[in-house]
Amino acid sequence: MCAIEISPAISTERLLLRGPVANDADRLTLLAGDIGVAGMVSSMPHPYGRADAEAWLARMQKADWDRDAVFAIEHHAFGLVGMVGVTHRHGPRPELGYWLGRPFWNRGYATEAARGVLTWVKRDWRKRVVVAGHFTDNPASGAVLCKAGFLYTGDVELRPCLARGGAEVPTRMMVWLA
Ligand SMILES: CC(C)(COP(=O)(O)OP(=O)(O)OC[C@H]1O[C@@H](n2cnc3c(N)ncnc32)[C@H](O)[C@@H]1OP(=O)(O)O)[C@@H](O)C(=O)NCCC(=O)NCCS
Repeated sequence: MCAIEISPAISTERLLLRGPVANDADRLTLLAGDIGVAGMVSSMPHPYGRADAEAWLARMQKADWDRDAVFAIEHHAFGLVGMVGVTHRHGPRPELGYWLGRPFWNRGYATEAARGVLTWVKRDWRKRVVVAGHFTDNPASGAVLCKAGFLYTGDVELRPCLARGGAEVPTRMMVWLA
């Protein structure tokens, strides 16, 4: 018997969230190769080359969608604009993460994508608690999480940032309850 796993897709007002594919490599290389992006997430190398994009996309093809759901954020006119995901990498509670390419900042896309994923997590994973964190020097991400309904827990964790040479960066933790 042959089993074909089809990744889920989520439609929001302006965006389609779909599984990343090998064809995303060029655009991913372009958008992720920006220290303004890599320096605000945990595990994105910098500089970021096409081989990094291809290796990451290959890993995503093998992801277990019941534990790690990573979506390419696609705009109908602009194509791939970023990534959003929810994973169990940091513990038993799903954790939300995202990034947008710089040309697409401040248009509400991260907030719209985060809301779409939270609705999906509640419906498909039947999870009612999602955590997230943002580096203390990234207030824009704090604004996204607040707009998506997260609240600050008061905890500040030290999280490594690969693009900052592995430095541990104070990270303000937040929680969302369905
Ligand atoms: C953070 C990031 C995801 C925001 O994406 P976005 O699509 O621009 O987010 P939105 O447009 O939905 O919302 C951004 C909010 O931040 C606010 N903002 C932007 N820059 C800000 C700053 N320097 N200080 C405070 N708020 C700021 C905007 O005003 C907006 O809030 P508003 O709608 O209340 O005005 C995007 O800048 C990014 O990808 N950055 C690099 C990677 C990253 O930080 N990922 C998140 C890791 S936790």
